Amino acid sequence: MTRTTAPFGRRAAPVTAREQHGAYAVVRCRDTGGPAPRPGQFYMLTAAERWGGGEGERPFLPRAFSVLRAGAGELQFLIEDVGPGTKRLSELGPGEDLLIVGPLGNGFASPREGRRPILVGGGVGIAPLAIWQDALGAGGTESRVLLGFRDGPHAAGARLLKSATLATDDGSVGHQGLVTELLEDELDAHDDDGVEVYACGPPPMLEAVRSICMDRGVPAQLALESGMACGFGACFGCVVPTVEGYIRLCVDGPVLDAHKLESALVAGAGH
Ligand SMILES: Cc1cc2nc3c(=O)[nH]c(=O)nc-3n(C[C@H](O)[C@H](O)[C@H](O)COP(=O)(O)OP(=O)(O)OC[C@H]3O[C@@H](n4cnc5c(N)ncnc54)[C@H](O)[C@@H]3O)c2cc1C
Ligand code: FES
Repeated sequence: MTRTTAPFGRRAAPVTAREQHGAYAVVRCRDTGGPAPRPGQFYMLTAAERWGGGEGERPFLPRAFSVLRAGAGELQFLIEDVGPGTKRLSELGPGEDLLIVGPLGNGFASPREGRRPILVGGGVGIAPLAIWQDALGAGGTESRVLLGFRDGPHAAGARLLKSATLATDDGSVGHQGLVTELLEDELDAHDDDGVEVYACGPPPMLEAVRSICMDRGVPAQLALESGMACGFGACFGCVVPTVEGYIRLCVDGPVLDAHKLESALVAGAGH
C-alpha cells in the first residue's frame, strides 16, 4: 500500500473551530504544511500552550488521534475527554494553536475484489470511519455503517457519519446491546463472501469483530490503539504481538488485517 508520510518535525496548526457533538468535541485546525492524510492515519497532537507543567507535569508527551476528516487545508479531530491530554485538547478553540506531527501510520486498504464494505465503530473509534466512509463514497462505493455507544450523549457522535444503524448499551438509542450483534445480523442476512469489514473501537469490540469475521472467513481490517509516545517508530512503546511477531503499531499499523492477530485484546490499549 502507498503510504503518505509526514513532513519532518512538528508544525503549528491554528485551531479554526471547536464543536460539541454530545459527549465528544470536534476540533478543526488549518494545516497547510502537510500532505492530505489517508483514511485511518493518525496525528500526534499537543496544545501549543498549557501542555504540562501543572500538578504532576501531565500531560507531557503528545497524544495520538485518528483524523476524522480532512480537506482544503483543514484537519478535524474527534476527542473524548478521558484524561489530562484529551481534556486540554478538547478545550481548544479559535486563537489557539495545535502542534501536530503527521499523517502517521498506514491507513485502510480498499475492499478486496470489489467487496461491499461494512464499517463497525465503537465510541470514539468512529473517527477514522467517518473519513473512510467519505473516501469510499467519493469513489462510488456505499458502505453499511454500524455504530455502538454506551448511551445517548455518546450516540450523538453518530451524526458525524451518514446513515448509521445504532446500538447503545442502555438502549436509549437504537438496538439495546452490542454493535457486534448488529454485525452478526448483517452477516446472517447477506452473503459473507461479498463483504469486507472495517472496525475501530475498544479492544473487546475489536476482538469480537475479529472472532466473528475469522469464524466466517470474512476479511476484516482493524484499527487498533496502543500507548504511543513518539508515533513514528523510535520509542517501541506501542509494540503489539501478531502471528508474525511483535510490530510497532505506529508504523506497521494502526490498521491491521484481522488474520494477523491471535487477539485484538492487546496490552496497553486502555479504554
Ligand atoms: C492510533 C490512535 C488513534 C487514536 N484516535 C483517537 C481519537 O480519534 N479520539 C480520541 O479521543 N482518542 C483517540 N485515541 C486515544 C487517545 O490517544 C488517548 O485517549 C489519549 O492518549 C489519552 O490521553 P490523556 O492524557 O487524556 O489520558 P491518560 O491519563 O493518558 O489516559 C486516560 C485513560 O485512557 C487510556 N489510554 C491512554 N492512552 C491510550 C491510548 N493510546 N489508547 C487507548 N487508551 C489509552 C488509559 O489507560 C486511561 O484509562 C487514539 C489512540 C491511538 C493510539
Ligand atoms: S509510538 Fe514510538 S515506536 Fe510506536
